[in-house]
Amino acid sequence: MIAFENVAYSYGGGELLSGVDLTLQPGSFHFLTGPSGAGKSTLLKLCYGELLSTKGRVVLFDRDIRGVGRDGLARMRRRVGVVQQDCQFLDHLSVAANVTLPLSVTGREGDPQDLSDLLGWVGLTHLAGARPPQLSGGERQRAALARAVITSPDVMLADEPTGNLDWEMSLRLLTLLVELNRMGKTILIATHDMNLIRAAKTQVAARVLRIKGGRVELAGAEL
Ligand SMILES: Nc1ncnc2c1ncn2[C@@H]1O[C@H](COP(=O)(O)OP(=O)(O)OP(=O)(O)O)[C@@H](O)[C@H]1O
Ligand SMILES: [Mg+2]
Repeated sequence: MIAFENVAYSYGGGELLSGVDLTLQPGSFHFLTGPSGAGKSTLLKLCYGELLSTKGRVVLFDRDIRGVGRDGLARMRRRVGVVQQDCQFLDHLSVAANVTLPLSVTGREGDPQDLSDLLGWVGLTHLAGARPPQLSGGERQRAALARAVITSPDVMLADEPTGNLDWEMSLRLLTLLVELNRMGKTILIATHDMNLIRAAKTQVAARVLRIKGGRVELAGAEL
């Protein structure tokens, strides 16, 4: 589904990531950990072509991201749901309109029942008509998750999706991601939260990738 082949990335200084080899099989569930500044958000952006590797190849849906062109990349990205670390919204639109935006931009008609189920799922039914600036940090994250899921993507990439959530809500979000995984979606979650990883491991065969010294290693079972 996603493969990195000897990938390096640099923002202009030294190499932040180097020699990264990685394969995320369809239907797999992975966490990505590592200290602040290690390159977790950068690695997620490399997965969906927001950033292009400075060396090596990133393959998404069996195609080299670099070779698909802008339109090709846009088409591939429709199959990827992304929850960014600093989730941005259109502030003049309601939460409901923001969540359905990915459908409207691709000319698809959303089913009102699906929207209502999805908002219920993330506990935001009562805020459907609110504007994003009125939301708390955790409510924004839940809205961002709903927006990422609405197109029913094959891959979900979530960057610290529980960073602003209390434990109960974190577990709820995790359950949603586990359910998506059971439906066959490939999931990659960047997080610092070891308790979240432990909780996930009781529900799903999750593997843990760790960025260390610019490289990505598969963590053992010690968590
Ligand atoms: N656009 C950019 N230009 C230059 N440097 C950047 C840019 N974005 C990130 N960096 C640097 O790259 C490094 C990795 O950043 P990244 O956001 O990938 O880390 P992270 O592991 O996600 O950290 P955190 O846990 O704090 O979210 C940091 O040192 C950061 O300052
Ligand atoms: Mg980050």
